Order: sequence, then structure tokens, then C-alpha cells
Amino acid sequence: MYLVEMANTYGSEQGYVLLWGIFKKPIVVPCSPKVMGSICKSNEPKSKGLGGSYRFLLPWLGEGLLVANGEKWARNRRLLTPAFHFEILKPYTKVFNQSADILVKKLMMKAECCERFDVFQHISLCTLEVILKCAFSYSKDVQNAGETNPYVKTVNRLTDAVIYRFLRPITFFDTVWNICPVGRQFNKDCEFVHSVAEEIIDKRRETLEQTGSPKSGRYIDFLDILLTARDEEGRGLSRLEIRNEVDTFLFEGYDTTASAISWILYSLAENPECQRKCQAEIDEVLDGRESDDLEWSDLNQLEYLTMCIKEGMRLHSPVPGVSRETTQDFDLGDRVAPEGTIIVINIWILNHMENVWGPDHMEFKPERFSKENIDKIEHFQYVPFSAGPRNCIGQNFALNEEKVVLSKLLRNFTFRLDPNHKVEKSLSGVMRTKDGMYMFAEKREL
Ligand code: HEM
Repeated sequence: MYLVEMANTYGSEQGYVLLWGIFKKPIVVPCSPKVMGSICKSNEPKSKGLGGSYRFLLPWLGEGLLVANGEKWARNRRLLTPAFHFEILKPYTKVFNQSADILVKKLMMKAECCERFDVFQHISLCTLEVILKCAFSYSKDVQNAGETNPYVKTVNRLTDAVIYRFLRPITFFDTVWNICPVGRQFNKDCEFVHSVAEEIIDKRRETLEQTGSPKSGRYIDFLDILLTARDEEGRGLSRLEIRNEVDTFLFEGYDTTASAISWILYSLAENPECQRKCQAEIDEVLDGRESDDLEWSDLNQLEYLTMCIKEGMRLHSPVPGVSRETTQDFDLGDRVAPEGTIIVINIWILNHMENVWGPDHMEFKPERFSKENIDKIEHFQYVPFSAGPRNCIGQNFALNEEKVVLSKLLRNFTFRLDPNHKVEKSLSGVMRTKDGMYMFAEKREL
């Protein structure tokens, strides 16, 4: 019942926050930046009981940052924040460039024979490779091996299984989930990814103990930070906690960025003038250089591309919603949500409210995020990375990756949608497509 309601509110023109108590009738209340703000600023936990979507992630991610609540979350957030300091993020620019180069090579073959391709599929492999390299310096070929790499295949199956369960309330019961074929495969897959992560963690711990520091010449990855992090009492993270965080980064950092980049590219292909403007800006930044690699200092120069990224994330909302469970009566302005209510905050709706974004809210208009206009956007109105204490810890990482991958692609190609294929959105934890996102790439003469 509530899934149907939720689907309706996602598609609705009006803004609603959906609330429900388990086995109770759903309640819908008007959504506003004020409501969004009060929920985001509160310490209300993520729901892990029956009906709470975060519990589907527990067997895979355990009590990692995304799922944990209370003291455990607060301690780990403090320990993990240094992993996203700009000094750590800076060297990842090279990783983004390298993986984007492999993607460009793959698409060049498609361009040469004018073959259409599913952008989402190619970009997903690229972002998975990036996060595997940044999380634990995984060095195996991901983009070319694709689904033939057992780890990649398993991670893909795991994310699909989470969505499968989310959409089928009967599988919410663990007993049903553990005996149904998808659930059984999911449990096996969890064991496999856990064993791979544990092997890498143990090897790295050994090296760190022997040498006292990460191998010279290599960038510091998330795993180095996790292994060396210490709280105020000098206590580090346990082996299980480290594994949970590595798996959380993987889950959060792969599909989300793939969705963002793919949908932004879709909007650029649909709006050739915006695409041309981005290309002109990138060409200007790279003008006179020997290499087409983006430098860290270039990322702030890409003003127009950044506007397109922000607008693309508004229009398509890569993470369309988040939820919380109330632990006490919760004041929402015009009504009170009783204790035990699960609140779904619909980011997609906030991004499409007609009274805020105007009658053209379904159109791609990067100017909404120009220097002159950006200050007019109310706080908590535009929150693609959520907001408040539980906002996305990886947002700068994600934005940098989006800039580098999109710049490389637009430097080399002009993209055009396949007129014979209708791209449709598919509702899940991350905004995906129903039957792919087919495009043609045309090589640019530079
Ligand atoms: C375009 C890409 C991304 C989008 C749109 C996005 C969006 C979000 C959103 C909306 C949340 C809040 C979730 C909730 O409250 O349930 C979140 C949390 C989180 N994200 Fe991201 N994310 C992106 C990329 C990343 C990346 C690249 C990483 C890691 C490298 C990451 C790591 C996390 C973590 C660990 C949390 C939980 C933070 C906490 O609760 O303290 N995300 N993200």
C-alpha cells in the first residue's frame, strides 16, 4: 500500500512528504524546505525495523556510516571525516582521469562504427572502477572485464537485490527473504564481497604494521585512513567496522555517481546548445596543454559545467528520497507525526515544486544555478546530497568525479540521443532507467 502511495507522490506535481506507521494507513503532508529542514536537522534515526528500507542493507553494509545511528554513527562520522579532506581528495583527480580515459577509449570504438550504446552501463563500470581504486586501491581491470570480473558481477547483483526487495513487501520478512532465490543469492554474495574485503584489509594491515605508513608513491586511499583512524581514547576501528565502511563507500559511491553523470549527459544530449557551451568551456581550460588531463585547480574553473551538473542533479535527483523514523512525537508545522512513524523525505518532489522552480520545472535550465540566481534558492530547497548532520560525506568526491568524467567525455565527443529509444526513469533507491539510456557519440575534431 505505502509503496503505491510513494510511487504516486514521486510522480506528483505537488510536494508531499509521506509518512506511515507500520501497518498503519499512510499519511501525506505537504512538503516544504521547512519540513525538510526540521527532519534533516533532527537526530531522528534511520529505520531498521520491518518496513524501514535501511534494514535491507544491513547484511551487506552492517552498521556502516549510512545505516548506523546514535553514538556509533557519531563516533564513526568523526573518524571518517578526515578521509574526505581536500588533501586526500586531491590525488584522486588522477584516478578519475585514468578511469575516464579508459571509458573514452571504449566509446571511441562505438563512435567509429556509429554504434549506439547504453550510457548508464558504461558509466556504471567507470564509477565502480573509480570507487574500488579510491576505497582500497583495487587494481584489477574493471571497465574492460565488466561482468566477467566476479567481484563486479557480485556488487551489481547485490545492488539489484536490494532494489528487488524494496519493491516487494512480502520479502520484508527475513524468513521469506532467506528462502527466496534472490535472497539466498544475496546472502551468498554478501559472504563473497565480505571475504574479498577482509583479505584486502588483512594484507594492508600487515603492510602498514611492517612499514608504518602507506606504500610510497601510492595515494592514500580510504582503507589507509580507516586503518589508522583513532578516537579521543586512542581506539581504532575493528576489522568488522572497517569492512562495513569499505562496503558502504562502495555502495554509496558507485550507483549514485553513475546515475548523476548519466542523467546529466542525457540532459546535455537533449540540449545541444548547453552541450556546446560546456565543450567551449572545457576546450578553453585545456587550451595549449599537452595533456587532456584535468588538474585539481581546473575543477573550480568549470563554472558552466558546474551549473549543468547542479541542474542535472535537480532535474533527475540521483538519490530521490531518504527516510527517518520518529522516536517521539515530531512537529511538522501543521501536524504532528506520532512516535514510530517512518517519514519518507521526497527529494525529487522538492526539486520539482512548481511554486519554487516555476512552470518550467521539468526543463533543463542551468541558469537557475548561475552566480546571480543561486542565492535565491532557499535553504533545504535544493538538497541532492541531503543536508544537516547526516548529509552525504562523499559530496565533494562525487562532484569532482562528475566534473572530470564529464569533461573528458565532452572534450572527445558530442552526444546525441537515439531517436528510436525512449528513456524512462525507474524508481528505486537511486534514479535509474527502465530499459537503458541509448545514445550515439560523435568524435570531435579538435
Ligand atoms: C552524485 C553522487 C551522490 C549522491 C547524489 C549522494 C547522495 C546522498 C544522500 C542523499 C545521502 C543521505 C542518505 C540518507 O540520509 O539516507 C548520502 C549519504 C551518504 N553518502 Fe552519498 N551521495 C553521492 C555520492 C557519494 C559518494 C561518492 C560517497 C563515498 C565515497 C558517498 C558516501 C555517503 C555516505 C557514507 C553517506 C552516509 C553519511 C552519514 O549518514 O553520515 N556518497 N549520500
